[in-house]
Amino acid sequence: MSSYPAVRLRRTRASAWSRRLHAETVLTPADLIWPLFIAEGQEVEEPVAALPGVSRWSVDGIVARGREARDLGIPCVALFPNTPSHLRTDDGAEALNPDNLMCRAIRALKDAVPEVGVLTDVALDPYTTHGHDGLVDAAGYVVNDATADALVGQALNQARAGSDVIAPSDMMDGRIGAIREALEGEGFANTQIMSYAAKYASAFYGPFRDAVGSRGLLKGDKKTYQMDSANAEEALREVALDLAEGADSVMVKPGLPYLDIVARVKQRFEVPVFAYQVSGEYAMIEHAVAAGAAERDAIVLETLMAFKRAGCAGVLTYHAPVAARLLGA
Ligand code: PBG
Repeated sequence: MSSYPAVRLRRTRASAWSRRLHAETVLTPADLIWPLFIAEGQEVEEPVAALPGVSRWSVDGIVARGREARDLGIPCVALFPNTPSHLRTDDGAEALNPDNLMCRAIRALKDAVPEVGVLTDVALDPYTTHGHDGLVDAAGYVVNDATADALVGQALNQARAGSDVIAPSDMMDGRIGAIREALEGEGFANTQIMSYAAKYASAFYGPFRDAVGSRGLLKGDKKTYQMDSANAEEALREVALDLAEGADSVMVKPGLPYLDIVARVKQRFEVPVFAYQVSGEYAMIEHAVAAGAAERDAIVLETLMAFKRAGCAGVLTYHAPVAARLLGA
């Protein structure tokens, strides 16, 4: 028996240059999508109490964030409106208004910084009085097919305003195919669809609902349309359907607690997979940092690297500007 190990895995870890050389995964600003909340008004910045360090911005501020994204090397921003409460209705009709907050922000961004991609959320929750992603019947059930029709209208409205990536987050059956067909029908052949394919009914969305003003409104929960955290096979079925219906890329959401799903989707389908490190995950990190339990720079980069290692093409994260600065854009 030899007196030394035949293989020393520590040898390649012994110096910084060697660790860099042997890194299996890279993280760059090009892996980041920056979610932004839009507020009504001018020169408005409203800090979101539940998301320390995140604000809602009026359209002029959204444009400034778009320029910041460009300068930091972040390729894409994701938009979410905080619709004024007097414009919220049972049927969320404001989602179809070509001059709604979302459309004004899309147009302003594409006008000022056309080189930054604009991803837009398709779901009715920022526009409804009940806070659900779709149309609700007398029993409180979110009806599928009528909702899908409304989402087609919402997606077309965003595409006409200039959205680059339509991102349905509602989890209705059949909506990807319906939206793809409608986009093609209007000549939007190059408008992408990133489907929130495996989106779970999650306790991690609380701060987001504060940011878009739907938390106090939400009646019940979203378990009849968003997935059960117990299920993984079902996520693969969701992804298979959305791809067959024409999705260009798929998303898993939330992020860190669902990296097993990311890895399985990537291995099975070999398509671009994104993950959303959601509001509750961001808040957990920020609260841990504030409590002295973790160091922000290191924990932000480590969690984002984990997404890449699991197989993500990119990550939607509220830490996008922080991470891009650390990565030395
Ligand atoms: C709603 C939507 C949600 C998020 C993105 N789009 C919340 C929900 O489903 O209730 C959550 C994002 C986050 O928590 O950061 N269609």
